[in-house]
Amino acid sequence: MLLHFDDERDYAVRLVTAAGLTLAPIERHRFPDGELKLRLPTPVAPHAVLLRSLHRPNEKLIELLLAARAARELGARHLTLVAPYLAYMRQDAAFAPGEAVSQRIIGRWLADLFDAVITIDPHLHRVGSLKEAVPAGTAIALSAAPLIGGSFSTTDVLMLGPDAEAEPWVRAAAAAADCDAAVCRKTRRGDRDVEVTLPAVSFAGRHVVIVDDVASTGRTLAAVARQALAAGARRVDVAVTHALLVDDADAVLRAAGVNDFLSTDTVPHPSNRISTADLIASALRTLPP
Ligand code: R5P
Repeated sequence: MLLHFDDERDYAVRLVTAAGLTLAPIERHRFPDGELKLRLPTPVAPHAVLLRSLHRPNEKLIELLLAARAARELGARHLTLVAPYLAYMRQDAAFAPGEAVSQRIIGRWLADLFDAVITIDPHLHRVGSLKEAVPAGTAIALSAAPLIGGSFSTTDVLMLGPDAEAEPWVRAAAAAADCDAAVCRKTRRGDRDVEVTLPAVSFAGRHVVIVDDVASTGRTLAAVARQALAAGARRVDVAVTHALLVDDADAVLRAAGVNDFLSTDTVPHPSNRISTADLIASALRTLPP
């Protein structure tokens, strides 16, 4: 049984098709004062999966709390969260005294609600595994990088990561595409203020594909694109797993000279071109029956 919300029906249909599950929509009512009421199909199967991709996460966390607790009361004994995009993973340390370490707090809270958590390309920079951040019985972090790399067939591409954190994704994507890879150095001064230094490789006449886990304001990718074009790249494309692309991000990327922008379907966006349903389905098949 795949419990899901109406705004994620398209992904849910792809996933039930890939994984052989049954669609189980959750009805949602918003009261005039903003509170939510959820209604789950009954009974809930002993092994149930809840789909919720956690972009724009704050209200969805309340949905998860209500849905997970209700699912248990209605029969679920083993509950899996499939969150193709897992929010709050970037604040993985207190960078200034008093800062809440969101990754740890949200991760433990999810582990309390779910027996298993499956996600794709979570931003795990300073922790070694998803289980450290989300200490659920089972915590599976998949990567879409091979799918991204596989969507580029030409070996004359240079895959470029914006920063050292992106290196594992860039290397995995480049291995799948059988092309060159390199990473930049990034200095972040604020939410929308990013400076990038290119690696010491030749960009003259190259087709550059910038690969990253997530694009949010687009400022990181735009800074890399501008630099690569200034260094002589003949074309710059972008490929990311999670296309959050908030506010004016699309326009910022176009203005920076980005030619093509493609993403996976973990966050709905017109650039979605790579389905992750089979990837998630393969992980679901590894869970206890
Ligand atoms: C950061 O470490 C991530 O990998 C992304 O590079 C970053 O989150 C992108 O953010 P923005 O699009 O706002 O520059």
